[in-house]
Amino acid sequence: MKSIEINIQDAVFFAEKQYEAGKAAAVEALAKVNEGSGEGSDFLGWVNLPSSISADLIASINKTAERLRENCDYVVCVGIGGSYLGAKAVISALSDSFADFYAPAPKNPKVLYAGQNIGEEYTAELERLLTGKKFGIIVISKSGTTTEPAIAFRILKELLEKQAGKEAAKNLIVAVTDEKKGALRTLATQEGYETYVIPDNVGGRFSVLTPVGLLPIACAGFDIEKLVAGAAEMENTTLHSGDSNPAEVYARLRNALYQSGKKIEILVNFNPKLHYFGEWWKQLYGESEGKDGKGIFPAAVDFTTDLHSMGQWIQEGERSIFETVISVKEPAITRRIPEDAENLDGLNYLSGKRIDEVNKMAELGTKIAHVDGGVPNIRIELDKLDEHALGQLIYFFEKACGISGYILGVNPFNQPGVEAYKKNMFALLEKPGYEKETEAIKAKL
Ligand code: PA5
Repeated sequence: MKSIEINIQDAVFFAEKQYEAGKAAAVEALAKVNEGSGEGSDFLGWVNLPSSISADLIASINKTAERLRENCDYVVCVGIGGSYLGAKAVISALSDSFADFYAPAPKNPKVLYAGQNIGEEYTAELERLLTGKKFGIIVISKSGTTTEPAIAFRILKELLEKQAGKEAAKNLIVAVTDEKKGALRTLATQEGYETYVIPDNVGGRFSVLTPVGLLPIACAGFDIEKLVAGAAEMENTTLHSGDSNPAEVYARLRNALYQSGKKIEILVNFNPKLHYFGEWWKQLYGESEGKDGKGIFPAAVDFTTDLHSMGQWIQEGERSIFETVISVKEPAITRRIPEDAENLDGLNYLSGKRIDEVNKMAELGTKIAHVDGGVPNIRIELDKLDEHALGQLIYFFEKACGISGYILGVNPFNQPGVEAYKKNMFALLEKPGYEKETEAIKAKL
């Protein structure tokens, strides 16, 4: 099958010197990822994951998903950060844009999300929606101790047990967590839930191709074998160094642009189904690179929507930005613009054209305007939005992220900064064990 392609011709000339000078560093960074010789190498389990995932695991995930699909109208995916964004990115990309507004069909549950915020209204409104409904829960936490999903799970578990009975609820709850440690592992063992393991050597933001992402995606009715096959193809494509390795090219180029003063990268889509792919990508790059006082700031925009809000800044604001556009060649559905006899809106010059032809001209026009305005434009092109292409895209960005972090000179696989807010929150909430921190933080108030 055809691979995604990277096109750098409208970006590389902005940082030609840095790009040329960065070749050796990129080769070295790729070797660190492939050979596990860099910092954080105990978190490289994702590198060979697509080619090594067992057929038995895929079959088991599909079987569990089938059970939930048969017994639930709603499946709530409880998790935060890397424990939900990958699943949401893939499910949104492959789903009907209005899927949430159709009634659930038999054996085709809606996938909902909880524990990705601490919104009281969000939680209570979700409870209200699920009251009296047939639902199941996939609770996902690698550490098994994260506060946000723990609160949501406690509430949803209580509701499910009240509605279905404790015994039946056991069949409707699946936990994805560490093999041995964490409160979620203890709880799942005691309650007798079915569980899946997040491998120790795969960090949250790199875990979409483990049961973390695969189980919810299968529950939503999508083909996880094709997703993994696409990723495995990209694993192969990004193995060796050179211009034919799109991950190496992207990592090298974004670092060259960073060195030339482009400190912000926007991931652009012209297809609203990719909105959550941008959210997943932001976490992947933000958490992997933003450390030691360094790192490109990753933002994501939906075009043309955001051209009417952020377009001005991008076109004429501080020249510290570059863009990476995910361009999908062929939409799955054809819709042409109709002819109107009166033509009061003056749109007849477009009649008969596909809506996507207009979108593509917006895309081209935007690229030319942005490049003229000093915004380098990298393009990632895929033929269509399906499981195979998304698998490729996920692995491409993961591999590039590892390489890019090493070029930047950081450990791309840790996230020490994420602990700071948690420590303060626990101190403020007077969590047992945080007495000293509580005293210290209260002195600051
Ligand atoms: O990438 C990461 O490691 C984080 O974003 C985690 O996925 C997130 O904090 C959730 O952690 P956990 O799965 O342990 O609940």
